[in-house]
Amino acid sequence: MKKFIFACNFKMNNVSIEEYKRVMGEDDYSNVILCPNFCQLYQYAELKKNGVFLGAQNVSEYNNGAYTGETSADMLKNAGVDFCIVGHSERKKYNFETLSQTNLKIKKLIEFGITPIVCVGEELCNNETMSQTEYAKRYVLVELKEILQDIDISKVIVAYEPIWAIGTGKVAGIEHIKEVIDAIKKYAEVEFVLYGGSFGESNFEQIAAIDCVDGALIGGASLKPELICKMKKKLEEK
Ligand code: PGA
Repeated sequence: MKKFIFACNFKMNNVSIEEYKRVMGEDDYSNVILCPNFCQLYQYAELKKNGVFLGAQNVSEYNNGAYTGETSADMLKNAGVDFCIVGHSERKKYNFETLSQTNLKIKKLIEFGITPIVCVGEELCNNETMSQTEYAKRYVLVELKEILQDIDISKVIVAYEPIWAIGTGKVAGIEHIKEVIDAIKKYAEVEFVLYGGSFGESNFEQIAAIDCVDGALIGGASLKPELICKMKKKLEEK
C-alpha cells in the first residue's frame, strides 16, 4: 500500500509530547506531520528523530513589523517547521480570513521553503437541484482557482475538508470523497490531496483505500497519540 500521510492538527489543544514520544518509541514516522500550537513547536521538533515532520497551523502574510500576535514564515522556518496549514475553515470563521490573504500566506511559505497544506471545503448544499457532490466539486474548484493564483502548484498540498464534516462525526461518503478529490487532481492539477473531517478509527481504512486520497488532515483523533500510531501501523500491515 502507498504511504498514507497523517497530518495532525492539534488546534488549540495541549497534546502531551511525552505521550507521543512514548508511543512512537524508536519507530519510523516519516509519513506523519504534527501541527501543535506555536508554543509547543520547539518541543515537538524533538520527534524529528522519528522522521516526523513539523507543521504550524497558521502564518502571517507579512515578513515582519507591527503585526501584534502574528508569526512570520521566516520565524517558522527557524523553529524547524516543514509544513503549514493555511485557509482552515476555522480561521475563515473566527478570524475572517479571506481567500486573497490565504493566497499571500501560501506565497510567503513557499518563499521560505515551507510546504503549505491548503484547506478547501464546502458547506452543506441547500440547492435542491444539485447534489452535495456536484456542489462540492464546483465550490472547491472555484475556491482553489482564487487561492492558488500565481502559485507553483507543485509546491502545495491540498486538504479537502467538507465544513459540515469537521468535528461533527459526519464523514463524507466514500464516493463523494473520491469524486471531489479526483476533480481537484484533474482540474486544479494538484498532485497531493488529503481528506479531512471526522477522520478516525471507524473510517480510516475505507478512506485510506481510496486510490486518489494521499492522506488525512486529522483534528480530534490527533489528540490521541495512541490512536494515530495504531491507525498508521494498521495501514502498513496491508
Ligand atoms: P476533525 O478536524 O478531524 O476533528 O473533524 C479536522 C480539521 O479541522 O482539520
